[in-house]
Amino acid sequence: MSHREDFADADWSKMERHQRERTALAESWMGLTHMRGGQTVVDIGSGPGWFVRLYARRVAPDGWVYAVEASPKAVAYLRRTLEEEGIHNVQIVAKDAQQPLQEVPLADIVTITDVLHHLDHPEQFLRNVRERLRPDGKLLIAEFSPQGSGSLGPPLSERLDLEQVTVLLEATGFQWFIQQQQAFEHYCLLAQPR
Ligand SMILES: C[S@@+](CC[C@H](N)C(=O)[O-])C[C@H]1O[C@@H](n2cnc3c(N)ncnc32)[C@H](O)[C@@H]1O
Repeated sequence: MSHREDFADADWSKMERHQRERTALAESWMGLTHMRGGQTVVDIGSGPGWFVRLYARRVAPDGWVYAVEASPKAVAYLRRTLEEEGIHNVQIVAKDAQQPLQEVPLADIVTITDVLHHLDHPEQFLRNVRERLRPDGKLLIAEFSPQGSGSLGPPLSERLDLEQVTVLLEATGFQWFIQQQQAFEHYCLLAQPR
């Protein structure tokens, strides 16, 4: 399914409510990646950006978060909330991350949460990500598990399983070293460039 079909009518404030309910997941991702002050974090497919704002507070005052987002409405929503909350260490990159990410500096951490299953070209996307990650940088991927009950999140038939993601990572120059089942029907993987 294309991004356009998926997100043209998205309700971004509702999605932010879902993100806020999953704050504990974002805290676990910050812990697994050892996210800390001064780092450069790139979050791809940020949506309304609740997680971006958490990451921005974690890396402040000297660190930066780059929020890469394809939906103009999500970008407008994120821009407004950043202004309202006085958060100044986030750069928004409004584009489809299946295109090269030359606007993004080399990152210490890239986070891609609940995005991979939406993509038409996930291999190209991950190759673009690899180019923007430092050799010792970390990639955190989280997805809804097809083994979940389906009571929240995308339909089970649209979910990627862990093995599909590891195959994609291996094909695009990453080695993964941690995988975890998580709450809210999620799993996550931590990877580094090979
Ligand atoms: C389900 S939301 C996930 C939002 C957030 N990452 C989270 O974990 O809650 C997927 C987001 O990825 C964005 N997205 C999908 N494909 C994209 C692409 N190719 N490039 C950039 N953003 C994309 C969508 O517009 C949407 O905001």
